[in-house]
Amino acid sequence: MTEWVNAEVIDIINWTDSLFSLRINAPIANFIAGQFTKLSLNVNGKRISRAYSYVNAPSQKLLEFYVINIPDGKFTPKLLKLKPEDNLMIAKEASGFFIIKAIPKCDNLWMLATGTAIGPYLSILQQRDGLERFKNIILVHAVRYIKDLSYLLLMEELKEIYQGKLHIQTIISREKKHGHLHGRIPCLIKNNLLEETIGISINNDNSNHIMLCGNPQMIVDTQKLLQESRNMYKNMRDKPGHITTENYW
Ligand SMILES: Cc1cc2nc3c(=O)[nH]c(=O)nc-3n(C[C@H](O)[C@H](O)[C@H](O)COP(=O)(O)OP(=O)(O)OC[C@H]3O[C@@H](n4cnc5c(N)ncnc54)[C@H](O)[C@@H]3O)c2cc1C
Ligand SMILES: NC(=O)c1ccc[n+]([C@@H]2O[C@H](COP(=O)([O-])OP(=O)(O)OC[C@H]3O[C@@H](n4cnc5c(N)ncnc54)[C@H](OP(=O)(O)O)[C@@H]3O)[C@@H](O)[C@H]2O)c1
Repeated sequence: MTEWVNAEVIDIINWTDSLFSLRINAPIANFIAGQFTKLSLNVNGKRISRAYSYVNAPSQKLLEFYVINIPDGKFTPKLLKLKPEDNLMIAKEASGFFIIKAIPKCDNLWMLATGTAIGPYLSILQQRDGLERFKNIILVHAVRYIKDLSYLLLMEELKEIYQGKLHIQTIISREKKHGHLHGRIPCLIKNNLLEETIGISINNDNSNHIMLCGNPQMIVDTQKLLQESRNMYKNMRDKPGHITTENYW
């Protein structure tokens, strides 16, 4: 049974018409960077809850979530209407194994995200725990339009902090923009453009591990491609592999 605690809205950042970040205060239990929790609201007398990844590091007091409004969704239009000092409920305990401890030994850690799924990586990178063992971390954010790169400034700040270890790469699918790759994650792996741009190749010699987060079809397509073309397999708790995933729906 989920134990719920009361949360107070501190701030809402509206990045675009549909993308927003919710900052709240709540007495949650400790969580591990990369995990998600559940947010809950009363909608027409009925309690609705949905899963959201923490964007903030566990060491940061304010809790932050990066959300896309689904106009005909049951929950997000209500979340978008919240104002500072409003209340909602949050699960006290976090969930999930999309965490650094679950990643086997490797040199290059690829963090690939579509849309709002950049969140767990930002939590991991802001927390910094357990990242010393990687030679390179490659953070890839794939979005439809340039305006959807809400956390680009934070990504660039993190790049500076990591002093050469962190590589950042943006991908835009629905417009061509200088300085960003154009297309989708699996296509840009298939044609080697992602690896050529970063200067690191993806292979199955255990020097690379791929984290995939977000759009479930992106995860299916990328995993299939990596399996067929690079002989890379899903990482299981009882059988270490090269690919660790988190589906958003
Ligand atoms: C482990 C986990 C972590 C999640 N973390 C986040 C998060 O940090 N931020 C976030 O915005 N959502 C996240 N989600 C999705 C979230 O739980 C809800 O499904 C989403 O907010 C839609 O709720 P809704 O009731 O408004 O829409 P619903 O009525 O439930 O409609 C769902 C449909 O909206 C689309 N959709 C749902 N979520 C997304 C998304 N994030 N990006 C693109 N399309 C989407 C899909 O087509 C899906 O079928 C997460 C889901 C899981 C399982
Ligand atoms: N982004 C917006 O401006 C916007 C505005 C209003 C509402 N919405 C709604 O919000 C929801 C989510 O939108 P979103 O843009 O955050 O998430 P999204 O649809 O998952 O798109 C994010 C990125 O993932 C890519 N992608 C989608 N399917 C893929 C696959 N099979 N393999 C590889 N890459 C894939 C998209 O490329 P493609 O572009 O090629 O699909 C895009 O670059 C949708 O229901 C949308 O209608 C979005």
